Amino acid sequence: MGTVEDLRPIFSPKSIAVIGASRSPMKIGYEILQNILVQGYEGKVFPINPETPQIMGLKTQPSVLAVKEDIDLAIIAVPAEFVPKVVSECARKKVKGVIVISSGFAETGERGKQLEDEITEIAKKAGMRLIGPNTLGYKDPIDSLDAAFVFGMPMAGEIALISQSGALCIGMINYANGEHIGLSRVISVGNKADVDDGDVIDYLARDPETKVIAMYIEGIKDGRKFLDSAKRCAKPIVAIKAGRTPAGSAAASTHTGALSGSDVVYDSAFKQVHIQRAYDVIELFDYARALAYQPPAQGNRVGIISNGGGAGIMTADWCESIGLRVPSLTKKTADALKPHLPPITSARNPLDVTGDARFHRYYATGAIMLSDPNIDSLVMTCVHAGIARPREYVGAVIKLVEEKRNLRKPIVACWVGGPETDEVVQDLRVKNIPVYASASRAAKAVKCLTEEGRRLELVGKKKQKETPAA
Ligand code: ACO
Repeated sequence: MGTVEDLRPIFSPKSIAVIGASRSPMKIGYEILQNILVQGYEGKVFPINPETPQIMGLKTQPSVLAVKEDIDLAIIAVPAEFVPKVVSECARKKVKGVIVISSGFAETGERGKQLEDEITEIAKKAGMRLIGPNTLGYKDPIDSLDAAFVFGMPMAGEIALISQSGALCIGMINYANGEHIGLSRVISVGNKADVDDGDVIDYLARDPETKVIAMYIEGIKDGRKFLDSAKRCAKPIVAIKAGRTPAGSAAASTHTGALSGSDVVYDSAFKQVHIQRAYDVIELFDYARALAYQPPAQGNRVGIISNGGGAGIMTADWCESIGLRVPSLTKKTADALKPHLPPITSARNPLDVTGDARFHRYYATGAIMLSDPNIDSLVMTCVHAGIARPREYVGAVIKLVEEKRNLRKPIVACWVGGPETDEVVQDLRVKNIPVYASASRAAKAVKCLTEEGRRLELVGKKKQKETPAA
């Protein structure tokens, strides 16, 4: 069986056993069982606990060996020293896959490392895939399965999230919900004793619900396997690689037992397989949303429109300082723009549509800029100065995004203002239009879309080379 088939019973189980399902609402084993039930899982659920006959109205069994039916997935939440025994029982029961939530393994030192090797060996011998140990589990908002111990689901969407950190994973879900960013699958991989990032990338590469893969990584054990999976994956991947400094790296080794490795090596390996690197959670989602919902840019030439000259200049600076170009407009474009501009401004790039711009000025100048053959992408900025009307700006951006899809040029929105503007630009977020509260974030998102355009171009050329001429 290949990885995708191996992992299907874990991520799409017909039956789940929760080993260590607890009677106490204060315990993780209680939370896991409750989350599965709250989310409305439709398969069979078997709580395993030798100390009590039932939990949450479900009959318990003392061990998976006492369950008569087949078990696809076992989620294990008993203290580390008991995990080898329950993993062995799962192997005997021919459970198809296990998730070991328990911590107390390689992240704690030599004894923990031995325990981790022991359970990995048992699972390998039985042909049973193992996620973790030291993991949060996973959350699947598309199929409505919460197989994790912290309450709260992401909004459903098209970005998959793989995280080596459990708590950060929950923080990222909450951040994404606040930004109205939907996720397809959220998978906490923990210590990656067996199932690792490469396996999950292979799985998500074939997942029809996932368009973009976003990752938080502390260390990668099998570099070759990871790079092969990333190279095979036709979808864009964006990743944070933490543990870049001696202090970060030392913290990663006690967090998930990760060996952070040389940052320079990671950087060049990521470039080799076109993984785009983010340096914090905000960047990760900035890029992921742009990649999921805007077309890749066909080149690096950016058009900039703002109603505040300063904002346009800052955006131009940011674009040029990260390898994008802010080209001059053609005479045809400049002539077309003039009738829409007040006499105090000139038809140039970056274009200052001035503080009194209303819906039509934004819309008309945006449409003209987008039709310029020297422009590959557009940043539209709204500065909430006294007479500016953010709602009209938002309306113009939405209309442009919806009407100009056929041009295959990304449009990115940017704003400067207070809570009032933030509230108005929420309409853009709801429509999955990338919108950023700073020039640097907007420029970097465009750069990311430009890199994606380049990746697809290279992949296309490689495919052409490999296809023999008819
Ligand atoms: N089979 C089935 N059930 C059992 C077994 C067994 N062999 N042995 C014990 N149980 C039952 C217990 O009776 C108990 O149920 P009860 O409360 O009804 O009596 C339940 O399983 C839990 O066992 P406890 O001994 O009470 O264990 P506890 O819940 O205190 O801790 C846990 C277990 C949660 C796995 C803990 O050891 C642990 O590892 N916590 C940290 C988990 C974590 O943070 N994971 C990673 C996060 S992600 C990251 O940041 C990388």
